[in-house]
Amino acid sequence: ARLVVLVSGSGTNLQALIDASATADYGVDIVAVGADRDGIEGLARAERHGIETFVLRTAEFDDRAAWDIALAEKVASYDPGLVVLAGFMKLTGPAFLALFGGRTLNTHPALSPAFPGMHGPRDALAYGVKITGATLFVVDEGVDTGPIVAQVPVPVLEDDDESSLHERIKTSERAMLVEWVGTLARHDFHLDDRAVRLGATPT
Ligand code: GRF
Repeated sequence: ARLVVLVSGSGTNLQALIDASATADYGVDIVAVGADRDGIEGLARAERHGIETFVLRTAEFDDRAAWDIALAEKVASYDPGLVVLAGFMKLTGPAFLALFGGRTLNTHPALSPAFPGMHGPRDALAYGVKITGATLFVVDEGVDTGPIVAQVPVPVLEDDDESSLHERIKTSERAMLVEWVGTLARHDFHLDDRAVRLGATPT
């Protein structure tokens, strides 16, 4: 499957996908990496691997809707079968979802529906949960609300701070992302209400 990845930061999830894609039987060809800002390690990782990149900053557009349309058109120009938001810190809008709804994946560093939003690890620590984790989901119009593809539990340790907990979550998050992006790339799949159903035969 052709894959476009959108990033806003360090891009370790992107790197895990790049590394997995190096194996032919993984079934994923990363055709472009897009970002909403310049100068980030995520873009540098793509460039080092010879992957095409693009940047669309919201500030360059009249409003969010215009940015959303431009993003949808740009991603569509690469004709992807799957899109992954890998630490992409913007909400995609209606124009994007009209084209890529049902085949755009995101990860969240908490066990949805707990602790949605920007600070999953911090909020889990503040609440005092003993187990948190990461969630892979199909993007919808909400914040971390889409149909869940997979989840992985991660323990909160006694002396964790936000950064140590987030790093432990990210290790599990990357493994889950790599496993499921490969699975979804190699199968037909569809959404049945909130369930992700895999086709019987690999594509
Ligand atoms: C991940 O934990 C992701 O879930 C969160 O931001 C982090 C991105 O990390 N939204 P990276 O840029 O892939 O290293």
